[in-house]
Amino acid sequence: MLLSKVYAVLFAAAASAQQLSSQLTQIKDFGPNPRNVSMYIYVPKNLTAKPPILVVPHWCHGTAQDAFRGRPYASLGDQYGFISIYPDSPNKADQCWDVSSKQSLTHNGGGDALGIVSMVRWALEKYGGDKNRVFVTGTSSGAMMTNVLIGSYPDVFAAGSAWAGVPFGCYAADGFGVWSDDCAKGKIIKNGTEWAAIVKAAYPGYNSFRPKIQVFHGTKDDILFPQNLKEEIKQWTAVLGLSSTPTSTTPNTPLKGWTRYRYGTTFEAYEAEGVTHDIPNQADVVMEWFDLKCKGTGCYSRKSGYRTSV
Ligand SMILES: *[C@@H]1O[C@H](CO)[C@@H](O)[C@H](O)[C@H]1NC(C)=O
Ligand SMILES: *[C@@H]1O[C@H](CO)[C@@H](O)[C@H](O)[C@H]1NC(C)=O
Ligand SMILES: *[C@@H]1O[C@H](CO)[C@@H](O)[C@H](O)[C@H]1NC(C)=O
Repeated sequence: MLLSKVYAVLFAAAASAQQLSSQLTQIKDFGPNPRNVSMYIYVPKNLTAKPPILVVPHWCHGTAQDAFRGRPYASLGDQYGFISIYPDSPNKADQCWDVSSKQSLTHNGGGDALGIVSMVRWALEKYGGDKNRVFVTGTSSGAMMTNVLIGSYPDVFAAGSAWAGVPFGCYAADGFGVWSDDCAKGKIIKNGTEWAAIVKAAYPGYNSFRPKIQVFHGTKDDILFPQNLKEEIKQWTAVLGLSSTPTSTTPNTPLKGWTRYRYGTTFEAYEAEGVTHDIPNQADVVMEWFDLKCKGTGCYSRKSGYRTSV
């Protein structure tokens, strides 16, 4: 728990002076929410037709407001017409997400994950959103939740982008919001088959589209050890039916010292040399991965995306 407190300082991003067309709004009743996660939404004045939806879960000791202010997705939403959703953790002790419970790690099973998915379902209905273009990105605890949502709800999300997180199920425990020191320190090591089995068990019988995912990690991360990048690579390449040998390796992308490993078109991993847990977000890389600047037809979506099953 002590370690998790460190994140508070790391991600206390300065509020940028964004000139926005609208404002962050709280929604109280949005569907099944057994853990009482709070919902905040940013709906630009000018929405594109069938707007995409981006979910931005905060980090530990962060809030929905911190993620809203500390990331540029609201102003990018103004530019490109998509909606962003900022859930707020009910875990007031440390504001970390529930990425441990059987409930969150099960499709429609409950936990924080179901509360967040209810927000997505509510917004899709309310704003006539594009159910094939729902995305999730987060840092640290938000990256853990990104892995969880992609694993438990492959029928809801089109893609994820996880910054300094851990694999789906790595924090699995008997309880909500349990901190796993073993996982954080990179001591939970499995092969791809084992990691994929954990994802598959979240939604037994599901045999359709799997979201694509990109993951980022610093080599000097001493909060969530860099071994977790290796474990995420094994997990998602196995889930997506890809070889764990990269199809391309590109140095100094998008920053000097960062290496991008691509595994076909549905998974990529970035290893950021010398970077700590305080990994600098690259919104342009996220926007491109989600194809969120695209309006109209021909954009990346669950329909255009590669189909596979575990
Ligand atoms: C749910 O969370 C809100 C905001 O933190 C709080 O005001 C409310 O009392 C909570 N409700 C329950 C049933 O715990
Ligand atoms: C909304 O779109 C219209 C038409 O493209 C444009 O004239 C207007 O400036 C936009 N408003 C905002 C707030 O972006
Ligand atoms: C993964 O681990 C399991 C044991 O849990 C083992 O049976 C299997 O052969 C391993 N797979 C690979 C590819 O190493």
